[in-house]
Amino acid sequence: PTLLDFIQRLPKAELHLHIEGTLEPELIFQLAQRNGIALPYASIDALRAAYQFEDLQSFLDLYYAGASVLITENDFYDMTMAYMRRAQQDGIVHAEIMFDPQTHTQRGVSIQTVFSGIARALREMRNTAGISSYLILSFLRHLSEEEAQTTLTAALALREQYADLWLAIGLDSAERGNPPEKFARVYARCKELGFRLTAHAGEEGPASYVRDALDLLQVERVDHGVRSEEDPALMQRLINDAIPLTVCPLSNLKLCVVDDMQQHNLARMLQQGALVTVNSDDPAYFGGYVADNYLACAEYLNLGRKELAELARNSLLASFLPANEKDHHL
Ligand code: HPA
Ligand code: ZN
Repeated sequence: PTLLDFIQRLPKAELHLHIEGTLEPELIFQLAQRNGIALPYASIDALRAAYQFEDLQSFLDLYYAGASVLITENDFYDMTMAYMRRAQQDGIVHAEIMFDPQTHTQRGVSIQTVFSGIARALREMRNTAGISSYLILSFLRHLSEEEAQTTLTAALALREQYADLWLAIGLDSAERGNPPEKFARVYARCKELGFRLTAHAGEEGPASYVRDALDLLQVERVDHGVRSEEDPALMQRLINDAIPLTVCPLSNLKLCVVDDMQQHNLARMLQQGALVTVNSDDPAYFGGYVADNYLACAEYLNLGRKELAELARNSLLASFLPANEKDHHL
């Protein structure tokens, strides 16, 4: 089989995926029309042409603008179904999906609408395609601790209703200037409540943010974490404790975290024994879904089929699935 076939046939989990980052320009235009929203772009192509980012913030501005077309339960359902069908093509057997309720509640969309539309699609795909999924409710780190607490309280009213899906907490948005310590009390509360914990750290922020995510937030997995290498002792700790890193190569390239793909440290970290995984982050904005990210690693980092299989295996190991379900896929 071709390399793409080989990659697509590897059973794998997607662990770092923002559902709002899967809104393709076509769907943004469709939803805008359906909801009577005017977009500041003349065409689908004009919108896609604007996807040239110089850093995380320049991306976030367009990502939040894109998400503003999501109004109804059906909108969240359609977005999630489109992603899940695409994930199925790439051989995803399990997806742990981040969503940002604050992006929507700030615009007057109820948190129930957000949960309901996403969950309906995930349950349908579980029942019809056998793809399992979990939800990672993520707080926006540019907003205050108090706003995160309020969002958590509102979401907890729905916990029973979505207990089959919502089992984890994440932290995303602008990293620099919004260190992990800002959310230490929110994370302590989430841990007390029994949630699994992850957080973005070491994407644009320094290695010390990765250390603080571990020590102050007690995360069990780190999203991105590519700057951990700047602190060799931290890197050794990640290896020794088998703390997964959910790395997103094409994202790192598009947001100028790396200057070119050949310079990405994913292969080096894998070689050193770190539990690295390959993920797509915001595929509609970064020009590739998960198989494209594996392909880029193969092409630019000289990873062979053995290493690609190891990365796929790591994704299942690093998932929040119970041991018996991991074994079933491995
Ligand atoms: N980093 C931080 N916040 C985000 C990202 C990311 O890559 N994608 C969506 N929100
Ligand atoms: Zn991310």
